[in-house]
Amino acid sequence: MLPTPDLSHLTKKDLEEVYEPAEDTFLLLDALEVDYDYLKGSKPSICLEIGSGSGCVTSFLGNIIGSTAYFCTDINPHACRCTQRTGKQNNVNIQVIHGSLASPLELRLASKVDVLLFNPPYVPTSDDEVGHAQSDGKIEGAWAGGSGGMQITNVMLSKVKNLLSPSGRFYLVALKENNVPGIIKLMREMYTLTGEIVLQRHAGREHLFILRFSHL
Ligand SMILES: C[S@@+](CC[C@H](N)C(=O)[O-])C[C@H]1O[C@@H](n2cnc3c(N)ncnc32)[C@H](O)[C@@H]1O
Repeated sequence: MLPTPDLSHLTKKDLEEVYEPAEDTFLLLDALEVDYDYLKGSKPSICLEIGSGSGCVTSFLGNIIGSTAYFCTDINPHACRCTQRTGKQNNVNIQVIHGSLASPLELRLASKVDVLLFNPPYVPTSDDEVGHAQSDGKIEGAWAGGSGGMQITNVMLSKVKNLLSPSGRFYLVALKENNVPGIIKLMREMYTLTGEIVLQRHAGREHLFILRFSHL
């Protein structure tokens, strides 16, 4: 079992402002560990995490893959700073960009991303709540997902095909309420990407999934 990245530099105050790694984060780490041989062996050139929060996931990926280009985005400026610090703490050089989804990098990284990661704000909330959370860039943006918990994820799903390299993989965290079979069907029918469930786990009241998508 690979160690969880060192997060000892994050203070209580940081974790009041930034999403603290939780069961969803750890399930994503476990999925990356399931794919350890592929991830290491395929020598990815570009990895991109959307919504990196503390930076735990990309630092973990960095310790699997080793030296390559790591990009992260987050709408929460404090999360951007924490991601940068977590990268440093774990010897992973991460370029962090404050912005929404992949928009700051979409043109530059089109068809180049070998590993794309997103643990999105997936909790069903009112559309008002997601609107405020997205524009405020504070911790509420970590979970407020709007209708079906899919408002932000759906926007990202429409960008994936354009970002992935020919052998690229996209890992997505989802909740049962997000309609996992519906996400897989949408990705196949609308974006010709094939998807499967890598791992699933019950954590308290949440039934969490990690989905993995690639070109057909
Ligand atoms: C559930 S947290 C996951 C954090 C971290 N990746 C993890 O797994 O612990 C979701 C993260 O996405 C960020 N986020 C929400 N909406 C976003 C958007 N439109 N673009 C970029 N990041 C976003 C939040 O600020 C938060 O850091």
